[in-house]
Order: sequence, then structure tokens, then C-alpha cells
Amino acid sequence: MSDYILISKASESCDKTVTLKGWISNLRSSGKISFIELRDGSGFIQVVAAKNDLDEASIAVAGELTLESAISVTGVIVKHPKKEGVYEMQATSLELIHKTDNYPIGRKEHGPDFLLQHRHLWLRSKKQWAIQRIRDTAVYAIITFLKENAFTRIDSPIITSTACEDTTSLFEFEYFDVGTGYLSQSGQMYLEAALAAHGRVYDFGPVFRAEKSKTRKHLTEFWMMDAEMAFFEHEQNMQIQEQLVMYVIDQVLTQNAEELEILERDTSKLSGIKAPFIRKTHSEIVAILRERGSEITEETDLGAKDEEILSEIFDQPIFIDRWPAKIKAFYMKRCPDNPTFSLASDLMATEGYGELIGGSERECDADVLLKYMGENKVPVEDFEWYLDARRYGSVPHSGFGIGLERLVSWLSGIDHIRETIPFPRTIYRYTP
Ligand code: 4AD
Ligand code: MG
Repeated sequence: MSDYILISKASESCDKTVTLKGWISNLRSSGKISFIELRDGSGFIQVVAAKNDLDEASIAVAGELTLESAISVTGVIVKHPKKEGVYEMQATSLELIHKTDNYPIGRKEHGPDFLLQHRHLWLRSKKQWAIQRIRDTAVYAIITFLKENAFTRIDSPIITSTACEDTTSLFEFEYFDVGTGYLSQSGQMYLEAALAAHGRVYDFGPVFRAEKSKTRKHLTEFWMMDAEMAFFEHEQNMQIQEQLVMYVIDQVLTQNAEELEILERDTSKLSGIKAPFIRKTHSEIVAILRERGSEITEETDLGAKDEEILSEIFDQPIFIDRWPAKIKAFYMKRCPDNPTFSLASDLMATEGYGELIGGSERECDADVLLKYMGENKVPVEDFEWYLDARRYGSVPHSGFGIGLERLVSWLSGIDHIRETIPFPRTIYRYTP
């Protein structure tokens, strides 16, 4: 028996006989020779199966092969005759693990509905594989960065009894006979509590928004990393976000060159990104946008068109800060010189990918927070536990939440966010 290895390790076995196992992602045959593109999740390799090199049983198998059949193949790893750094296998024996007939996804173009209906199979396609690999790198990079910066992971609950963001986008359900339960929109408030135990904390998990948004940037279930830092003020909050984003970009560029190539991503757009990012106030952005025909006002959020306009002007991410308090969450600290504005910052990606991060300094005075809660009609009795963080050892603190799918869209150059999560949930779809 020869050694079974992963395709990603094939180069280490050059000129040796090894066994690979995987699925056939592409196939062409010229009678005497079959060219099999084999994938095993770790990578892709071309297997050249020439009749002359195969035993009788393997020749029969070669004649039966179909797209997405699973096989085990033994042969010699050799350098590709023309392509530098590429390896292929010259097969000596083929074994069928599972034969696939009539694989629904073919080489012809399929519409998005068909592909989403077959998401469980579509995940196997090369581009979809590449996107999930980038997602995996991004997650690992975020967690590594946080670990290196003294953060403790605190898993916040998914079932909650209060709203974190606006109450209009809550998924509600009956929680036994105790009351109404909600699916978490963000773990932020729980992190604010845990911060007094651990200083710097984060969570990373699925969050839910019942918003009726039909845009290419909205999901009803998505993954968010919320971070919360004691003794961080507004400017430090933006700095750490910037460092995090730079670290993730660097990791994806170095670890996912093959994936980015599969996706035909213009990597110069990512490698050209430099910290510090651009910083503009909401009011400055409004002026820039209105000059270019936008109908945005001093009291409204940016629309998709606005994000596009900005990306035509700037090729660097932009922190938009000093937001009108009216259109931001009640827990945000206000600007010391003018309390009608919040010390909030949204980080806009380049190329029209929109808002990646939402964050702010938090109001840390219980009385002031109570006043904002009153103005925002927040039911104080449900938030007593949240107020306790301001009653016992309250400190200045800030935090932010990064949407994983928005980040992966941007890094991968994928326009629709639904391709960046394995099984997307939108207002139209929760299956497969
Ligand atoms: O700006 P948001 O709503 O901020 C919060 O929830 C804060 N509590 C986070 C915090 O400070 N800890 O959401 C944060 C990010 C957005 O910037 C965006 O990237 C993403 O989450 N996001 C969505 N992604 C996909 N689909 C949606 N419907 C999203 N809504 C927000
Ligand atoms: Mg936001």
C-alpha cells in the first residue's frame, strides 16, 4: 500500500508513489488517456491516467468515471511539464469509491435560484470552495489578532430577553411561559458586562436580523465578531479596528493566493490598502455626497448608491464618525462638544462593499444612560443588568462589531453576500 496523502502535500512527494482520494471536478478523455481534475478539499491536482500505465481493473474504472464521482488513485507525483510549481499525478491504479450519475450542476451556466436551491452541492464548485477558504482564513486571523492583543473570548448568548440594536429587526418567539425571547442581534451588551471581569473581550457567532432588506449586503442570519475594550476611547477604538483589518488582509493575501486567483480578485486593490484609514465625519461625508447628487441629509444613513459614490472617490477604507445621535443606538457616548452627535464610527470598505464595522465609545455614566434610554423609549426594567456595569466600577470603554460576510465579500471580490456564508438565510430563503 502506498501512502494516502492530501493534494496540498503532493509537492513533498515528488517522484514518489502515493495515493490520493477525492472527487472528480473535471474530466476529459482522448481515448487512451484520461485527464482527471481531482479535488479533496485541500487543493486540486491533475491526474493523468494513461491506459498503458494502468492494470485491467483500473482501465475499466477509467472508462466509467463521471463528474463528482469519488475515487482513490495511486500513482507517481511528477512536476508539470510546463507550469512552474505545479505538480500532477501519473496514475497506475484507480479505484471507484462512489459513482455519481447525472450531477445536477454542470459546466453550463446556471441561474442564481437554481444554484441556491442546490447550495449543498454548489459549495463544491471551485469559486465557492475558494470563498469558504478565505472565510476560514479571515476567522482564524481575527481570532489570532485578538489573542495576541490580550482579548478573552466570551461566548454571548443567542437567546436573549432584550434588543441590542433596533427593535424593528428582532426575531421573536415565546420562551416557555417566562416571556418573549429574541434571537441575538449582537452580543455587545453581554460583552460590556464581561469586560469588568476580563478587560478586553470578544465574541464570534451567528446573529440575527429580521430586516426586510433585499440588498446584496443583507442576510437575516450572519456572523459577527463583537469586541469590547475597557479604557479605550473613540480614537483607540478606530485604531484597533484598523490594525485588525490590516492583519486580516495580510493573512488572506499570503495564505490564499490560489483562492484569490480562482476568484479573479484584483489583489492590488487589497495590497494597496494602508493604515491609517481615511477619517471623515458624517457631516463631511454628507457634503461630499450631496455635491455629487445624493439625497442624503444630515440626519440619514448612507444608501447603497452613496457607498458606490464614495468608492469612486476614495480607494482606501473610510471611518465615518460623529454621527447624528438620533439615528444611532442609545448606548453610544455623545461628542463632548455637542451631544447631538455620537462618538460612533462606521468603517466603509472600498469598491462599494459597504459598511464592514459598526462601533462606538459607550456611555459609561448610569444617569446619562438612563436619560438616553428614556429618550429612546427603552424599557429600563429589562436593562437593569446592563446598567449594573455602570453602577459598579464603571470605566470608559469602546467596542465594535465586524460582519464576517461583509468582510469576506470584500476580500473575495464577491458582489453578493449570500455566497460568503455556507448556507445563506435571506428574507426569501432558509433552505437548504
Ligand atoms: O452596525 P451593526 O448593526 O452594529 C452592532 O450590532 C453593534 N452592536 C456592534 C458592536 O458594536 N459590537 O452591525 C455590525 C456589522 C455591520 O457593520 C455589518 O458589517 C454587519 O454587522 N451587518 C450585517 N451583515 C449582514 N447582513 C446584515 N443584515 C447585517 N447587518 C449588519
Ligand atoms: Mg451599522
